[in-house]
Amino acid sequence: MITKPKGTKDIYGKEAKKWQYVSKVIDEVMEKYNYNYIRVPVFESSELFHRGVGETTDIVTKETYDFTDRGGRNMTLRPEGTAGVVRSYIENKMYGDVNQPVKLYYNCPMYRYERPQAGRYRELTQFGYELIGSDDPLSDAEVISLAVNIYKILGLKGIKVNVNTLGDQESRDNYRKALIKHFKPHVNELCEDCKERLEKNPLRILDCKVDQDKEVMKTAPKTIDYLNDESKERFEKVKEYLEIMGVEYVVDPSVVRGLDYYNHTVFEVEAKIEGFGAQNVIGGGGRYNTLVEQIGGPKTPGIGFAAGFDRLMLALEYEKVNIPVQTSVDLFLLYVNEDEKKYAAYLTNELRMNGFIVETDYLNRSLKAGFKQADRLNSKFTIVLNSEDLKQNEVKIKNNKTKEEDVISLDAIIYYLDENITEEDDCSCGASEEHNCNCGDKCKCHKED
Ligand code: HAM
Repeated sequence: MITKPKGTKDIYGKEAKKWQYVSKVIDEVMEKYNYNYIRVPVFESSELFHRGVGETTDIVTKETYDFTDRGGRNMTLRPEGTAGVVRSYIENKMYGDVNQPVKLYYNCPMYRYERPQAGRYRELTQFGYELIGSDDPLSDAEVISLAVNIYKILGLKGIKVNVNTLGDQESRDNYRKALIKHFKPHVNELCEDCKERLEKNPLRILDCKVDQDKEVMKTAPKTIDYLNDESKERFEKVKEYLEIMGVEYVVDPSVVRGLDYYNHTVFEVEAKIEGFGAQNVIGGGGRYNTLVEQIGGPKTPGIGFAAGFDRLMLALEYEKVNIPVQTSVDLFLLYVNEDEKKYAAYLTNELRMNGFIVETDYLNRSLKAGFKQADRLNSKFTIVLNSEDLKQNEVKIKNNKTKEEDVISLDAIIYYLDENITEEDDCSCGASEEHNCNCGDKCKCHKED
């Protein structure tokens, strides 16, 4: 048997419906915040990620899926979304758009050659968004609050937002020097990777999963102590806006992020997922004021966030958040002979085109087995097409809940279904059973917490 590659998943059945629902909520929230959907290629030239994400990051040195195409070009499957979006922003000259800043979002798979475990995959899905063209601290607060609000709207409660600042280039350089000075005498206590990071990218040592519990890490200098006045003031503004927006956060100096492009604000969102260790970080982001220029565009500030979709789904499951899934059909059409089957073919098509969820039998089942199938699909109504009735231009339609049967004219089926499938039967979010729903106040199942 050919099996799926290590670190990948098949999403199907109920789980796929849940993914669709969560994606739909994300689309709706993004629309409210005026972010436009963007699709960029799954593969890009390898140089983009080397220049964008950083030569010394784990992602680029150890985790990319690289290949040479048949034309001899070096290509990489995208390990994250920001570099590709920024490349597109430059290539399509979005910096020239009248509407600034440019606000873009995506929801798609990324590829990282990591050691697979629960919550860590080689094909992972991220939804992310980028706000490019503003350095205003208000945009930092918007990007952070948007992340928090999406999780909130989805019904996730146990999240923690950790915010930090790396400061501007000068502050970052000073901090970098302080880190080298701190770690140099202890270089032999560090793992092999961190030994290499010491000169090239000492900030990454703080992010190391191997060395994280060592004493030398705990006594390391904090970013906050190396900020110049301007960077300090900027961070104060970001925090002020967050407070005005009512966003709960913690300033955590250990948040430095594993990618090279950040400066100023960086943040991570944690969920309470038991036994998940570092995989409880369900999203991260930050400001990248030099990235556009680094990739070849004009000097333009930017900030963004990306959430691990897979980890979000695990967190929702862990918190037992009920995600509404469509569990019923409106009508099941049964038939016995070929003429009735032909009419079923016509009617299913017609009713579906009028917005109803209609199913029929594709296995030439007996009527008894057909009724069973209608029950399995939780069908609200059943029609047994019968040649005699059809000759009279009518059908018998059975309400499967009340067990009542009506005889109606063929012309009246749409009207009848419209009248009889009410919001009382079905929650507007698509679920047929009473549940703790987050779909909005249109839904009869919606309960205020
Ligand atoms: P990142 O921290 O590398 O940031 O990834 C964001 C999120 O993706 C992580 O917090 C985690 O939830 C999820 N994630 C990462 N790797 C895996 C994996 N192997 N399996 C499952 N989930 C994973 C970025 O990617 C930046 N581009 C975020 C950003 C956008 N910064 C600015 N704009």
